[in-house]
Amino acid sequence: MKNILITGGAGFIGSNFINYILDKHNDYNIVNLDKLTYAGNLENLISSKDKKNYKFIHGDITNSELINYLFEKYELGYVINFAAESHVDRSILSSKEFVTTNVLGTNTLLDVARKFKVKKFIQISTDEVYGSLGKDGLFTEDTPLSPNSPYSSSKASADMLALANFRTYGLPVIITRCSNNYGPYQFPEKLIPLIIINALHDKKLPVYGDGKNIRDWIYVLDHCRAIELVFEKGENGEVYNIGVSTEMQNIEIVKLILNYLKKSDSLIEYVQDRLGHDRRYAIDSSKIKNALGWSPKFSFEDATIKTIDWYINNQDWWNRIISGEYMDYYKKQYKI
Ligand code: NAD
Ligand code: TYD
Repeated sequence: MKNILITGGAGFIGSNFINYILDKHNDYNIVNLDKLTYAGNLENLISSKDKKNYKFIHGDITNSELINYLFEKYELGYVINFAAESHVDRSILSSKEFVTTNVLGTNTLLDVARKFKVKKFIQISTDEVYGSLGKDGLFTEDTPLSPNSPYSSSKASADMLALANFRTYGLPVIITRCSNNYGPYQFPEKLIPLIIINALHDKKLPVYGDGKNIRDWIYVLDHCRAIELVFEKGENGEVYNIGVSTEMQNIEIVKLILNYLKKSDSLIEYVQDRLGHDRRYAIDSSKIKNALGWSPKFSFEDATIKTIDWYINNQDWWNRIISGEYMDYYKKQYKI
């Protein structure tokens, strides 16, 4: 059995990863440590919560005492760190929580992982640490880090600390840097779920600036499959970019969603641009493809439709979130 500490496993990508991995592997024991911030939602784990090899712990990755206790109690040998403050707009309003969780929290995990001599520490990072591209070019693992937002700066700092632990102490660290994800259970403050839900309500769709900023979109399960492969076969001290070369302008995504929902383009509202708004992200993922044999399974066309349908069919999930009843609901439901 592999005893794995997964942090941030009640968030969007972490919960998709746990549901995916527990379906596939019964030789993994998962301990999910999550602070349940506004972005954490135990309902995402409905298919995992009763499994024998799954345990949820409500707690903070900055809490060194708790993490020491968990390592001892569950004899943890592996860490996959998803926990983070993840929304750029929130980081522009206030960076404090981003530094606390993303930098200090990761550093705390690294310290304890070192003490307990973990066999693998996967740091889930982002392509945003590379900064912004012009019209041409792709981010490779050798692109210098040049983050622009408080969010991406805090993630870049965490990456540096993780790599320092490999180089200085030999901690078996691997970093993954993925592009923008979409799929089920994404908190409706990010572009795709926000546009779907607003459009379903015939509410205005806020498009920042000229709407021509480009992101390289990946379906969350392709990201999860890449993390699984990195966990099993990745080389210590390495960074792996993850992306599927699906570059889209924001306005193209918004129009695609409107078109599928048969709603009018008149819902689109161009609003003031995000401060420091990165213009373009695009990933070169040849390293993970060549070294580990990863390739994506989902096409953008199919996976966006799957995602829009998921939000149409799971209105209870997001209604509770947007109506603010959510905290009460899950306190009752999950007795915490
Ligand atoms: P999310 O915001 O949906 O989830 C974050 C989770 O971390 C939540 O469950 C939250 O409760 C938990 N958390 C926050 N602070 C914590 C703390 N101090 N202690 C314990 N738990 C805490 O984020 P996501 O979109 O699932 O992203 C997960 C990871 O993947 C992040 O590290 C993010 O930087 C990275 N990433 C995200 C994307 C994307 O498109 N969403 C792309 C690339 C990389
Ligand atoms: P977002 O989903 O916040 O991801 P990130 O900033 O991490 O890439 O935003 C994706 C793109 O969509 C980004 O260019 C900002 C833009 N955007 C809007 O135009 N309107 C919105 O309401 C949001 C949330 C984002």
